[in-house]
Amino acid sequence: MQLRKIWDGGVRLFHWSQLLLIIGLWWTAEQELFGFHMLQAYVLASLVGARIIWGFIGSETARFRHFVPTLNRLLEYRRNPQPVAGHHPLSALMIIALIVAVVLQWGSGLMASDDLSAEGPLYSLVSSDFADFADGFHHWWFNTIIALAGIHALAAIWHQRQGDKVITAMFSGKKAINADAEINLKPGMYVLFLTAVLLFCCYLWQGENVMMMVKADAVTVGWITITQ
Ligand code: HEM
Ligand code: HEM
Repeated sequence: MQLRKIWDGGVRLFHWSQLLLIIGLWWTAEQELFGFHMLQAYVLASLVGARIIWGFIGSETARFRHFVPTLNRLLEYRRNPQPVAGHHPLSALMIIALIVAVVLQWGSGLMASDDLSAEGPLYSLVSSDFADFADGFHHWWFNTIIALAGIHALAAIWHQRQGDKVITAMFSGKKAINADAEINLKPGMYVLFLTAVLLFCCYLWQGENVMMMVKADAVTVGWITITQ
């Protein structure tokens, strides 16, 4: 066994900023600060979009084909549950569920409305029945994300305590694995670049609207004052 780098900076940046943004999204929704809410939602969408692209063109350990849990991989892991250079097949199942869950939460937000001043950009483009459904979904689906993320975090803590330092690895990028494992990492900066490009696309689409709402929220929380 040898301490080797298995995660590029892009994967780590994606993971921990995603966690912070989801906490921020919940908090801003609770406070009814929907400008901040939407701003964070577009940053999250750009990160998730960049991570999905990275899953096809990125470092070997970040690629979906490297960790999509096939039956063979699951059985092999059951026979020989050793630290692996990448995601464990079981955690990979949860990881895919989490990515899908976050995308659904995001998509339903586009059609949600607080029936006052905030509405997603697709709210007025779909039928009112569908918008009601999406809005309800946006509320209760968040509980599913909390439940999945809770199980995922507990499993990670369990692995960590068993000596397979998966949480440390998500911070440092390094894990003790088989010295012969072949790992081909690419610069994580590309993920940052992809995120910036996607964020710019979001800006072109919704920037003006979101910036107006962010300003209104900044007034509400007292960060800026309006002078006549
Ligand atoms: C809303 C909360 C969370 C979400 C949506 C989430 C989602 C994800 C995703 C999508 C990945 C795959 C990363 C990639 O390949 O790019 C991942 C990996 C991982 N997450 Fe989380 N996560 C959350 C919270 C946490 C927390 C609180 C912890 C720590 C206790 C944690 C520990 C880990 C670890 C250790 C891995 C790597 C697993 C492995 O080595 O197979 N996650 N998570
Ligand atoms: C993954 C990203 C997102 C997360 C985690 C999230 C989370 C939440 C949560 C938890 C609530 C409900 C708060 C409560 O029950 O009081 C909420 C409400 C809301 N969200 Fe999001 N949201 C996300 C994306 C979006 C997006 C992309 C938009 C629109 C651009 C959006 C617009 C709204 C609106 C308008 C509401 C108010 C709905 C109502 O009061 O009926 N959200 N969000």
